[in-house]
Amino acid sequence: MLIKRNPNGIDIPFGSEITPRAIFESRRRFIRQLAVGSIAGGALLDAFAQAPGGQKLAAKPNPGFVVMDKPTSYKDATTYNNFYEFGTEKDDPARTAGSLRTRPWTIAIEGEVRKPLTLDIDSLLKLAPLEERVYRLRCVEGWSMVIPWIGYSFAEIIKRVEPTGNAKYVEFVTLADRKQMPGLRSPVLEWPYVEGLRLDEASHPLTLLTLGMYGEVLPNQNGAPVRIVVPWKYGFKSAKSIVRIRFVKDQPQTAWSISAPQEYGFYSNVNPNVDHPRWSQATERRIGEDGFFTRKRKTLMFNGYSEVASLYTGMDLKKFY
Ligand code: MTE
Repeated sequence: MLIKRNPNGIDIPFGSEITPRAIFESRRRFIRQLAVGSIAGGALLDAFAQAPGGQKLAAKPNPGFVVMDKPTSYKDATTYNNFYEFGTEKDDPARTAGSLRTRPWTIAIEGEVRKPLTLDIDSLLKLAPLEERVYRLRCVEGWSMVIPWIGYSFAEIIKRVEPTGNAKYVEFVTLADRKQMPGLRSPVLEWPYVEGLRLDEASHPLTLLTLGMYGEVLPNQNGAPVRIVVPWKYGFKSAKSIVRIRFVKDQPQTAWSISAPQEYGFYSNVNPNVDHPRWSQATERRIGEDGFFTRKRKTLMFNGYSEVASLYTGMDLKKFY
């Protein structure tokens, strides 16, 4: 995320979005893809081929949730990250998130529900059949990736806890432990990192409770051991390393809307027609495609997930940005 200098004059790091990407990687990938000879299957194989062999996680590909774009390489997806608890530079999380202990890990699901649940990570892994889904992820900074995630619809959780009639929103609270997370020493955000969704957004089948990627458990820098992925919203809505999920009556105060409310709204749907106050959102740079002559891609409404449009019928998406 890009942040301005704060008005008190405290020097707030400025995450670079123009870090040059490894051009040679895309060339190598293209050559390999020619050898494999197919687009979707070959590209997926290729992205997997670069996985370094973390703990495997079996999941059945769900053909209902696939985009045909070439997946981002494992290397790019795991070394170009936003995870401010581990630093504000894109390569910080890959270098420093080794200190995150992902076991034991429990997640409490509580609030306006009839059946609150506290689950350890193994129970969460077994709660519903794991699926592999290839989603586009569009960051508010203007870059995007395509990632084969592993998880199941968050609706599976909702079903089990039985929200009461008072539950209108879902709040995702993430780990904030100074001993494990060096970035917490910096006041860039109010910790813990909190995100939220309206209950109907959280219930949408696309909203993925995510436990892995590229055939393996989540790497620490990508939000191990459990995160949410909401593909039609800017990437910051996809909170990493969740420890508590609360069903609540009122719209949650979220980390980014507290830090810069005029820039980062609660909804944050990908929308090429609503500019960020400091830059356009009409186009995006696909990570891995940044050769000198590569054109930016056009950003699609709802990041291409037009099936969510009915959630916002009658809403002014300029006002509810
Ligand atoms: N979750 C936490 N806890 N802390 C963060 O700083 N950054 C967000 C989101 N989730 C963030 C977070 C942002 S800005 C983005 S773009 C995505 O994570 C990036 O996810 P990725 O690194 O897996 O691509």
